[in-house]
Amino acid sequence: SVEERVDDLYSRMTLKEKVGQMTQYVGLKYMQGLTIADQLDDIENQGRKDFYPGLEVKDVKDRVKKGEIGSFLLVKGVDEANFLQRIALQSRLKIPLLIAEDAIHGHARYEGATVFPTPIGMASTFDTLLVKKMATITAKEMRQTGCHWTFSPNVDVGRDARWGRIGETFGEDPFLVGEMGRAMVKGYQNNSLESSVLACGKHFVAGSQPIRGLNFSPMDVSERALNEIWLPPFESIINEGCATIMAAHHDLNGIPCHANKDLLKTRLRDSLGFNGFVVSDWMDVKRLHSLHKIASSQEEANKLAVNAGVDVNMHGPGFFETVVSQVEEGEISEKRIEQAVKSILRYKFSLGLFEKVLVDPSKVNLRSDTAKSLALEAAQKSMVLLKNRSNLLPLKNSKQTRIFLTGPNANNQTILGDWTAIQKDDQIITILEAFKNEPITLDYYASGDHSNISDKDIEETKLRASESDITVLVLGDNPTRSTEVVRTSGENSDGANLKLFGRQDELIQAAYDAGKPVVVVIISGKPRAIKKAKELASAIIYAWEPGEFGGQALADIIFGRYNPSGKLPITIPVSSGQLPAFYNHRPAAYFRSYNDEPTEFLYEFGSGMHYTTVTYNNLVVDDEITNEQPVSIKFSVSNSGNLPVDETILVYVRDNYASVTTPVKSLAAFRKVKLLPNETKLIEMKIPYKAFSLWNQNMERVVEKGDFTIMVDEMKATTQLK
Ligand code: IFM
Repeated sequence: SVEERVDDLYSRMTLKEKVGQMTQYVGLKYMQGLTIADQLDDIENQGRKDFYPGLEVKDVKDRVKKGEIGSFLLVKGVDEANFLQRIALQSRLKIPLLIAEDAIHGHARYEGATVFPTPIGMASTFDTLLVKKMATITAKEMRQTGCHWTFSPNVDVGRDARWGRIGETFGEDPFLVGEMGRAMVKGYQNNSLESSVLACGKHFVAGSQPIRGLNFSPMDVSERALNEIWLPPFESIINEGCATIMAAHHDLNGIPCHANKDLLKTRLRDSLGFNGFVVSDWMDVKRLHSLHKIASSQEEANKLAVNAGVDVNMHGPGFFETVVSQVEEGEISEKRIEQAVKSILRYKFSLGLFEKVLVDPSKVNLRSDTAKSLALEAAQKSMVLLKNRSNLLPLKNSKQTRIFLTGPNANNQTILGDWTAIQKDDQIITILEAFKNEPITLDYYASGDHSNISDKDIEETKLRASESDITVLVLGDNPTRSTEVVRTSGENSDGANLKLFGRQDELIQAAYDAGKPVVVVIISGKPRAIKKAKELASAIIYAWEPGEFGGQALADIIFGRYNPSGKLPITIPVSSGQLPAFYNHRPAAYFRSYNDEPTEFLYEFGSGMHYTTVTYNNLVVDDEITNEQPVSIKFSVSNSGNLPVDETILVYVRDNYASVTTPVKSLAAFRKVKLLPNETKLIEMKIPYKAFSLWNQNMERVVEKGDFTIMVDEMKATTQLK
């Protein structure tokens, strides 16, 4: 059995080989600043020096050969993966390496792999089956290229849109985040030896509402908020068997997560039942010394992290050496090392790496037809129609209609989002390219990018908008790395302001002033405060970062081949002053009003229109909650239009009176249902017992007696616990 193999191997390992398993480095090409296309021959003599100060490529190779490195991240390509594995196979015990990648929306950092919408868009689909399929395809593409471990899903709850990483989350609702996370874990860890990868739930925990919205900054979180908001998504993915967890950058209530035993041991393992291994985030062990200042040296930082429960150090040198001597000196227990190493080995065995670790470059088959059609379907389902005055959309695609297309995101790879390589142009259908395929009269103007919208761009927009029938303005953010253009969202690109970056609102005004209808399309990973668009545009499509088929999906929606179906997984506020903005607040949150701005949000969680009208009727629910069983609800849902629709059914619960204050409503269940034109379906759903629970004054999770309101669309009904 796997367990016997783990015990046997472990019993033959030296201390150095054990700590080696806990040590991760970046790949050699990355270390040398080379690209995937560069050759590995003579790699020692190429590229940048001192990525790891004082360490040469030959030293890293030597460490692999001695079994002192157990895993890598940022490995560039099949050749490098095989190159490293061949060295590992020369080590005394021939233990294969785990190769990790941030494959968060497809294996997108790999050139030529399928790029799906980023998680915030995937959440907009409310389609867990689709998300699971996406993760399965991602895992398959990863394994073909020699990777075994994805740093995903990100199950941070998105509560502060100033934070640049909001697009990596599944939005603001803990239940939705947990369900999406679970679907990802199911897809990644799909039990196939050849095409399954390890999932990594991150970031543990509560880092996504940081002080001032800045990545890394501290969070002070109450016990109640931990239990109600931040821990539940982790509970969901751990119940699904998520193999690994990544600690979060920040300090939580004054204790950095990487040195927080209460988090990494008591809560994660003892309370949530996690039994995989914990990886540090990039450089965060070091930062216990250099940033958080709770360790007076890097050596001490290593010790604090390992003793708190960090099993793998993501970032290279300076860890292995000291941990070995700290174990020898009894400062770190053998037991701690055993727990970490056995867990890592267990997964290496269960992935089949000891049997077959080299990959065959001739078998790499990325972007299969199935993968591409799923990426298109995901992009279509992720886009949210927020406004459609006088049914302006869909547009007729006829030569008679003159469409003016412009805006900073109309013709580039911003549609791919963060955590992606710049992909070859012929893989991507930009919005302009998709529009060019339509039988319309198209006028396109390339405006400046987000930070470079000039007076001329504004004048030209007004002029050309007045000469056209309709203007389509493609605005939003630039999350892409390694371009010349200012990066306005993504990891470590936080913004104090939620207005559209730069002069983009002026483009809306200019197009509007031309007197013709304006369609605003937002390409962004964050909910931007699009007040101007709401006031002036005739139609708004929030397209998130829709991935490689974003252009085509948008054209399919604008020209009526797909009936928009996405719903917001996160609230769009009026301004950053309204933050944190979320729908499931406690009753007194809006008892008073602002004196300078509206108190209501621009668009709340769950908003999203179709071209057809969907109506709900006849809600019937179980009168009573009995024996801790789910509550059954039944109702009908109808599509009264001439287009099919993928409807998202959202079911909310409210605990009417309770011993502690509870949210005005909480998402308790959701389902995606396809309705043909004029079709009515009878739906039966179950609300899990847990959805009626609260954390009482003694901080115990209980379901209290009394009435609960169940809400579906405009319908309400009551159930009761006697
Ligand atoms: O996985 C990421 C993490 O989410 C943020 N810091 C870097 C890691 C590795 O790329």
